[in-house]
Amino acid sequence: MDKITLQATLEGYFTWFHRHPELGLAEHKTTARIRELLLGAGVEILDTPLKTGLIAQIRGRPGGPVTALRADIDALPIAEATGLDYASEHPGCMHACGHDFHLTALLGAALLLREEAETLAGTVKLLFQPAEEGAGGAQAVLDTGFLDDVEEIYGLHVMATLAPGVIALSPGATYATVGRFRILVKGRGGHAAEPHHSKDPIVAAARIINQAQTIISRGTSPFDPAVLSITRVLAGSTWNVIPPEALLEGTFRAFSPEKLTHIAESLGKICRGLEESDGIAIDYTWRIVTYSTNNDPVLTEWVAETAKKLDLSVVPYPPTMGGEDFALYQQRIPGVFLNIGVGSPQELHNPGFIANPAPLATAAELLAALGKGSVARLAQNPPSLGSG
Ligand code: NI
Repeated sequence: MDKITLQATLEGYFTWFHRHPELGLAEHKTTARIRELLLGAGVEILDTPLKTGLIAQIRGRPGGPVTALRADIDALPIAEATGLDYASEHPGCMHACGHDFHLTALLGAALLLREEAETLAGTVKLLFQPAEEGAGGAQAVLDTGFLDDVEEIYGLHVMATLAPGVIALSPGATYATVGRFRILVKGRGGHAAEPHHSKDPIVAAARIINQAQTIISRGTSPFDPAVLSITRVLAGSTWNVIPPEALLEGTFRAFSPEKLTHIAESLGKICRGLEESDGIAIDYTWRIVTYSTNNDPVLTEWVAETAKKLDLSVVPYPPTMGGEDFALYQQRIPGVFLNIGVGSPQELHNPGFIANPAPLATAAELLAALGKGSVARLAQNPPSLGSG
């Protein structure tokens, strides 16, 4: 398929997906449409227990190596405000993170790889992953066991502010380790006129909020970035009652689980200190939501070379405190998570985010080249004997 035809085809797919965004684990129409398009192109779909999302494959030489390409397919609970003529038809739901672009680009790669199956040195698995936005989609895909034979994995994400079609990537950790916390301050409610008979949870919560600001600024190295944001404060029901409880929620992020744990434990110390000084009880819980991505340095270099062979400009990717569950695949399988510019007027997760569809065919060609090139390289240089 020539590039102009491919681009026109993909733009048609893309506007449909943009019109029909669905939240994580509810991507039923999206999955049905992907299935329909793949089957229409003669692409094999694997029989997995996934309720939404799917895994397809292009089989080349039997017994050859297996590489995976991954796209996420879920949208966000955001009311779209782009004014596009193909804007979301699902109120309060929007493809504001470009996952419609990702899945369309992967469909394009499927079309290209299907055409070239005879010259493929192995198998390319295509992961249309559900629920990237915090609902455990990558884990669900890994749990199917269909990635057990995969030797390398590649994924692509749009980058809002970068010029359309420019590729950005860097080795190592480019997306943060993301932690989430919840603090329930349990005091004793009472009359606002008699605070001395209460244990005011609001004052304690305010002290937690203030003291938390020094954990990173005073307690961690400025050369190793981290962030802590308290994003939810909930207490009280009226003006003259001291409530019994106050709830805080938020997130901390860093580039290593060790650093994140240090920050989490520091917040725990602040809570324990207040329990002693104020005589209140504090339930503090936290967990890691996603780990940092980890781009293999050798493969990152190879991806950059592959992109340059397609006449694409390649720039370094500036690390983000955003999270990305592609990291979970990279804990088991070497791979690269790369970015493509889509020249949006607004950032990701903004109601005005617009992914320019112009580089769709480019993204599809690059993904196809990575799949094809990866199995070819692996077939020439199989991993050392005995590695299983
Ligand atoms: Ni995303």
